[in-house]
Amino acid sequence: MKARTAHGQHTLGREYFVSDDIWRAENETIFHRSWLLSGHISQLEKPGSYYLFEIGGESAIVLRDDDGNVRAFHNHCRHRGSRLCHETHGTLGKTIQCPYHAWAYDLDGSLRNVPAMSDVAGFDRANYPLHAVALTDWEGFLFVNLAPDPPPFDEALPGLAGRFQQWRARELRSVGRKEYEVEANWKLIVHNFSECYHCPIAHPQLNKLTPFRNSQNDLEEGPVLGGPMWMNNPDGSMTTSGERCAPLLPGLDDAQRGHVFYYSLFGTGFLSFHPDYVMMHRLLPTSKNTTRVVCEWLFHPDAIAAANFDPSPAIDFWDTTNRQDWILCANAHRGVTSQAWTPGPYSELESQLAAFDRQYRTRLGEPILARCRAD
Ligand code: FES
Ligand SMILES: [Fe+2]
Repeated sequence: MKARTAHGQHTLGREYFVSDDIWRAENETIFHRSWLLSGHISQLEKPGSYYLFEIGGESAIVLRDDDGNVRAFHNHCRHRGSRLCHETHGTLGKTIQCPYHAWAYDLDGSLRNVPAMSDVAGFDRANYPLHAVALTDWEGFLFVNLAPDPPPFDEALPGLAGRFQQWRARELRSVGRKEYEVEANWKLIVHNFSECYHCPIAHPQLNKLTPFRNSQNDLEEGPVLGGPMWMNNPDGSMTTSGERCAPLLPGLDDAQRGHVFYYSLFGTGFLSFHPDYVMMHRLLPTSKNTTRVVCEWLFHPDAIAAANFDPSPAIDFWDTTNRQDWILCANAHRGVTSQAWTPGPYSELESQLAAFDRQYRTRLGEPILARCRAD
């Protein structure tokens, strides 16, 4: 096994957490231009099902249309810009009707009904469909990109290509969802997810199941980072009891049994592949100081259909662990925004944080960083 290294890097400086210019640059160059994990296909069960994906001041409607296609649109009306949908998820009727002046859009985005515009010379409703948002379905996970000209998905997240099919994630269904408001900059949450150096002291329950040195990184550079941890109990899982709470997912073999595979997807998604379920985190930065985190647990339909199915050992385990982590992140946030803060050295166990920072700096762009520092 190759020794992991943080290349002698230090943590990010204070400016990355307090600068309004850097926050603005993150919105422009990362949240508005990256392929971001928005949700899972099981959230769009039938025609009209939708959820909102809101990040960086933008809002997208992700929906299933009448023909069964999954689509995404900017959540604003083409007339005078009103937000169209407000509830985080739900079921639409045959159309999306604007609450302002009742323009109504088909679920494929075309403008269908327009009251009192027939006397406007040259008006053609064909010219005013909803603004489309780029969407990719990868293994049932729905990624959106808010840019008008996004790069191809496979080029943006090459670490995903040809991997993880064994979990057959497209077939899975979400059975639990938790939302958290974390008082920390989003990067600190990515950093925290990317190492288990803190596990012995912060997560005694987790560290008992997967001691912190039971880990390896198989993606060490680029926008997808992570690797497996192995459990003391090869038939176990990450649950309150340490036992699986559902059968081994069909498709998994001995290489995955007794392992959990953790990956961060630049910049705001985490996927954790367990023997009996998959966990999905989405970070939704709400300011440079606060982040909403949405966590969901996905199980196989056969397990869900069993009379004794109970996912709570998995949900409770990670809810406890999540809450332990949010305290760590909020504490770190208070420190790195101190006027006296200077970057500290990464340990070799924090090689993934150093790799994330390299990716982050590349994405933000040196000219932007130089400008922000000069201001
Ligand atoms: S803003 Fe939507 S109909 Fe006027
Ligand atoms: Fe943690």
